[in-house]
Amino acid sequence: MLTFRRAIIAAAFFLTTIFLITRSHSSAPVRVATDDLTKDVHASSGSSEGVTKSPSNVITPANPGKKPAAQQPLQDMSKAPLREKLAYQFPYDVESKFPAYIWQTWKYTPSSGEFGEKFRPAEASWSEKHPGFVHEVITDQVAVHLLRHLYASVPEVLEAYTALPVPVLKADFFRYLILLARGGIYSDIDTHALKSAAEWIPDKVPRSSIGLVVGIEADPDRPDWAEWYSRRIQFCQWTIQSKAGHPVLRDIVARITEETLSRKKNGTLKAKDKSIVEFTGPAIWTDTIFSFFNDERYFDMTTSKGNITWRDFTAIKTAKKVGDVVVLPITSFSPGVQQMGAGDYDDPMAFVKHEFEGTWKPEKERHIGGK
Ligand SMILES: *[C@@H]1O[C@H](CO)[C@@H](O)[C@H](O)[C@H]1NC(C)=O
Ligand SMILES: *[C@@H]1O[C@H](CO)[C@@H](O)[C@H](O)[C@H]1NC(C)=O
Repeated sequence: MLTFRRAIIAAAFFLTTIFLITRSHSSAPVRVATDDLTKDVHASSGSSEGVTKSPSNVITPANPGKKPAAQQPLQDMSKAPLREKLAYQFPYDVESKFPAYIWQTWKYTPSSGEFGEKFRPAEASWSEKHPGFVHEVITDQVAVHLLRHLYASVPEVLEAYTALPVPVLKADFFRYLILLARGGIYSDIDTHALKSAAEWIPDKVPRSSIGLVVGIEADPDRPDWAEWYSRRIQFCQWTIQSKAGHPVLRDIVARITEETLSRKKNGTLKAKDKSIVEFTGPAIWTDTIFSFFNDERYFDMTTSKGNITWRDFTAIKTAKKVGDVVVLPITSFSPGVQQMGAGDYDDPMAFVKHEFEGTWKPEKERHIGGK
């Protein structure tokens, strides 16, 4: 058991380490990308039904993360709206390198006897495949202190994190919070790295054009899909790579914060009517990504014939790029599921192996209170 005092000491040590690391080197480049990714999703050929727009309708970011000024003027942001505060605190620069961090969370640290033997090979695979990366397994106690440090100027986020009634909600929220603040790779503790993130995206694709890499969890091409999944295409959140400050992460942090505080206020936070999938899990993650794809603040929509939808990603066999986001095919993060067109673990496109043991429960059981 980690006592409170030991947790504080661990957190202090950890923060000092992070501080020194972020100051002394600006992280190794992560080589990410593929031949097909030099074009945007609307221009790439992919599967015929995956692309609904003609090649002339390439959607490019209208506002690709601008380089922040070398020195930002100090502003009093305490009264600013939540999204503005987050944008100020965690500026996004698409041209920066992918930070060389691997973030995981678990009840115990790897040095603890209670860590769990079955997770050791998975945990070790991330360090083995990513030499030179800072690899941290954050316990719940340390997470609180780390977030207090990172989000000190955005107290509503801390209030929401503290108010979340069950650990799985906090674990979901934590991955978005750490990636927004620091970037890098988040992966669930029961997930093996099969290939280095350097190989997730072909060399030809400039890393300076990408800020977020996501995979597909489910692509159920069957009439009764809604009985099994909450979205026709569901993006997974057990493995995510990002640069700090990405607008998708800013939006999901704001959405979860607002929903949590509003439910706290009206006393429904512990109600069993709201599923974890919708509250913090793959459903809201998927919705937030699609709403970014269709947001005219980020994309020039003048030549677009309609919204980007699940049709743009169903049955894809290679990665697709929309603006600064790369969507990997189902085989990449969900190999071996033996359905929905996913390839096996030895498929060249299989990048991680998810065991569904760390936090996962069948979707129907993923409700607050286990109902
Ligand atoms: C409480 O707030 C949530 C989030 O705004 C809302 O969805 C829900 O309907 C509200 N419930 C009641 C009983 O007011
Ligand atoms: C397209 O997406 C935007 C943003 O998500 C949404 O407001 C709009 O209703 C969508 N339009 C259609 C035709 O679905």
